[in-house]
Amino acid sequence: MSLRPRTIVVAGGASGLGLEAIRQLLREPELSFRIVLGCRRAAERRSDLLRDLGPLRSGTSVVVLELDLRSAASVEAFARSVSDEVGERGVDVLVLNAAVVHRARSDQRDRLSAEYIVNCLSQHALVILLRDALGVGELQRSRIVFVASELHHRLSAVGPPNLCI
Ligand SMILES: NC(=O)c1ccc[n+]([C@@H]2O[C@H](COP(=O)([O-])OP(=O)(O)OC[C@H]3O[C@@H](n4cnc5c(N)ncnc54)[C@H](OP(=O)(O)O)[C@@H]3O)[C@@H](O)[C@H]2O)c1
Repeated sequence: MSLRPRTIVVAGGASGLGLEAIRQLLREPELSFRIVLGCRRAAERRSDLLRDLGPLRSGTSVVVLELDLRSAASVEAFARSVSDEVGERGVDVLVLNAAVVHRARSDQRDRLSAEYIVNCLSQHALVILLRDALGVGELQRSRIVFVASELHHRLSAVGPPNLCI
């Protein structure tokens, strides 16, 4: 195995498609990864996640860091921790997978603003906060993967005055 480990950051990596994507990466033969998994309640979930994903092959590591995309402070703290964690290696792939869809009936304005903050604003903020760590690795380029849905189509039915932004 001659390739250096690729550094992959997954926002929303503790469940659903994000966790499955990490599982698939770890099954890749001949490749090793430094995975930074961002999720809510990281301290509580860390050991179960690492048990679930392990054992890891030599050269591969998984770090679980706190990330709550509802909170600007959490997004900023996550970006700082990621930068400290990856150092000069930078981030090869940033996977912006997290999303929330509130199906329960609640006030439409709060619902849309929560979805907009988590699914859109905070994820774009992460790209900006991590810009110094992107494109600095061995390959001098990084990939940013936005995992999206068709939720935004609902916004056009509601209209800008109700977006609470
Ligand atoms: N499944 C589908 O059919 C489908 C279709 C189209 C698009 N997508 C897109 O695929 C992506 C993953 O969807 P999924 O089906 O895997 O959904 P999911 O199981 O509900 O997973 C959503 C992920 O987002 C995380 N998340 C939610 N709110 C968060 C917050 N405030 N801070 C940090 N993380 C947060 C969740 O973390 P927790 O573990 O803490 O809940 C979870 O890891 C989403 O972007 C979704 O829009 C999915």
